[in-house]
Amino acid sequence: MMSETEAPTQVAAAAPAPSQLVLQLMSGSVVAQALYVATRLGIADHLTGGPLPVTSLAARTGAHPPTLARLLRALASLGVVREGDGTYALAPLGLALAQNAPDSVCASVLFAGAEQYRAWGDLLHSVQTGEAAFPRVFGADCYAYLTAHPESARSFDASMVETGGALGSAIAAAYDFAGEGTVVDVGGGPGALLAAILQANPGLHGVLFDRPQVVAGAGELLAGLGVADRCTVVGGSFFEDVPAGGDVYLLARTLLNFPDAQVGCILRRCRAALGPAGRLLLIESILPDGTVSAADAFNDLNLLVLGGGRMATLNELRGLLAQADLTLTRVIATPTRVSIAEAVPAVET
Ligand SMILES: C[S@@+](CC[C@H](N)C(=O)[O-])C[C@H]1O[C@@H](n2cnc3c(N)ncnc32)[C@H](O)[C@@H]1O
Repeated sequence: MMSETEAPTQVAAAAPAPSQLVLQLMSGSVVAQALYVATRLGIADHLTGGPLPVTSLAARTGAHPPTLARLLRALASLGVVREGDGTYALAPLGLALAQNAPDSVCASVLFAGAEQYRAWGDLLHSVQTGEAAFPRVFGADCYAYLTAHPESARSFDASMVETGGALGSAIAAAYDFAGEGTVVDVGGGPGALLAAILQANPGLHGVLFDRPQVVAGAGELLAGLGVADRCTVVGGSFFEDVPAGGDVYLLARTLLNFPDAQVGCILRRCRAALGPAGRLLLIESILPDGTVSAADAFNDLNLLVLGGGRMATLNELRGLLAQADLTLTRVIATPTRVSIAEAVPAVET
């Protein structure tokens, strides 16, 4: 037995000083840009065929060979690529950056590393004013900017496709669409989410409603997923009008991107389109009343920076719906981070 004065034979490693931890946290932006540049250069796509020497990778990506070697060394430290015998190969994390990988987040990384990253550079403005940073940095709100910048719009829309299919399947598994009728997806993006719901409910018809520039390319995706014959595509703005005649209306990952005044306007447009037996499903991550996870806390700030929006608690959601004459009926959890909040027209008393 060791006496009180005896030194332990093994000394536990000292915990990093707070200053070191802070500097580690600050390196997040540097890592994000290394991943973004690797994705822009298509490093993962070039390596899916097998390992390549730096010179060959530089020639294929149009990069400066010695500097690309420095980037690859940094990416190797993150587990994105692996070095061996003077060549670089894809490591497991790197596969997620390849465009056609099954679990690709390539498009999400491209948008997050470009416009979103630059908008976050003006977070200070958002925190000082409560307003979105995006318009100050880019001279237009996010969606007007995307309309004027087709390449960025392609990344943004593709990022919705990357995650929309799995989300749509999760919603279809959690919510009973009663097998028939019409689902109108308001701000439905390129249609991946609605297509997954239609695939799971062969008796349902869909209406994909989004900005004209977004739905212009949706036909091919809907046809590829085998649901084009059951889906009508409508271009327009939900600030002006929402197609009527649906049984269920979806607003997925869209409503809370906007400041409260615009949220109210979108909900009123949906309310006007809803028949007496219609239902509106808000597909959103709901802020808990108690402790908020880091993921939610940063997602909430992201909504602010990009569009002046905010995450809402259930009570806040209930209040926003009530202002548009809608009553929250129930909330259904899904295995993803989002829940389904169902609302119906308020009954006059
Ligand atoms: C974050 S995306 C969500 C897309 C889709 N609901 C999903 O979850 O995959 C928000 C969508 O709202 C659409 N949107 C923005 N402003 C709009 C408007 N005024 N009218 C119709 N759609 C709009 C965007 O084009 C975009 O597709």
